[in-house]
Amino acid sequence: MNTRYIILLVLLSFSFNSFSETEDWGKTGHRVTGEIANNYLTKKAKRNIAKLLKGHGLAFVSIYADEIKSDDRYKGYSPWHYVNFSFDKKYGEETPSKFGDLVQGIKKCIKILKSETSSIEDKEFYLKMLVHFVGDLHQPLHVGRGEDKGGNDIQVQWFRNGSNLHRVWDSEMIDYYDMSYTELANNADELSLLEVETIQKGEVIDWIYESQDLAKKVYASANVGEKLGYRYMYEHFPVVRSQLQKGGIRLAKILNDIFG
Ligand code: ADE
Ligand code: ZN
Ligand code: ZN
Repeated sequence: MNTRYIILLVLLSFSFNSFSETEDWGKTGHRVTGEIANNYLTKKAKRNIAKLLKGHGLAFVSIYADEIKSDDRYKGYSPWHYVNFSFDKKYGEETPSKFGDLVQGIKKCIKILKSETSSIEDKEFYLKMLVHFVGDLHQPLHVGRGEDKGGNDIQVQWFRNGSNLHRVWDSEMIDYYDMSYTELANNADELSLLEVETIQKGEVIDWIYESQDLAKKVYASANVGEKLGYRYMYEHFPVVRSQLQKGGIRLAKILNDIFG
């Protein structure tokens, strides 16, 4: 009886681990991006978005796409959270996944939101999805290598606990920093208008390549089984903060184009 109980506990802990593997930036990261985006919206965009979201804010809806993952009706959206393609190829040189990916997902959301024939319900749904996916786009390992599932299969130690490289970038560093999403958003780096405009230049695909370039550095930053902690935080958390801020600023650009 005792042995069975222990086996059950071990199995349960494995399955919980695999659930948390696919949590993306984590709640705080996604909310930071939503909150920062809100600060860069035009008045008109803010009004139109508030109407669609029934008063809920971008930070509030930013984790909706993760919340629906456990509902089988929404299974088809799971591959939209990431895009893996060879580091030495352009996106599209290899046939993109027929199940969809982050690039196709963001395109579809924008198309529905721009269309005059979309229903209000569809617009609300795809707006919530878009807020989330633009966040995911800025997590470097969401533009990673397919063979290790964006670093999910690269086991490392985070301080005293077992983790993996993907999770370190999704949430371990952000959680370790221990600031709320509003505190992180309020303490984002001050940027000049020119810097903001530079960040907003380009298209979704350019931002994907930027994340992929960062992903190459992230893969080189740790070895399998390595113990990561204070030093890793010191060297890499600034990149996390910058990516969350860029995500917010670019999300605002997309939303101003649609709703502004
Ligand atoms: N599953 C497979 N590849 C992934 C990635 N790059 N990010 C998150 N989940 C994944
Ligand atoms: Zn993730
Ligand atoms: Zn996601």
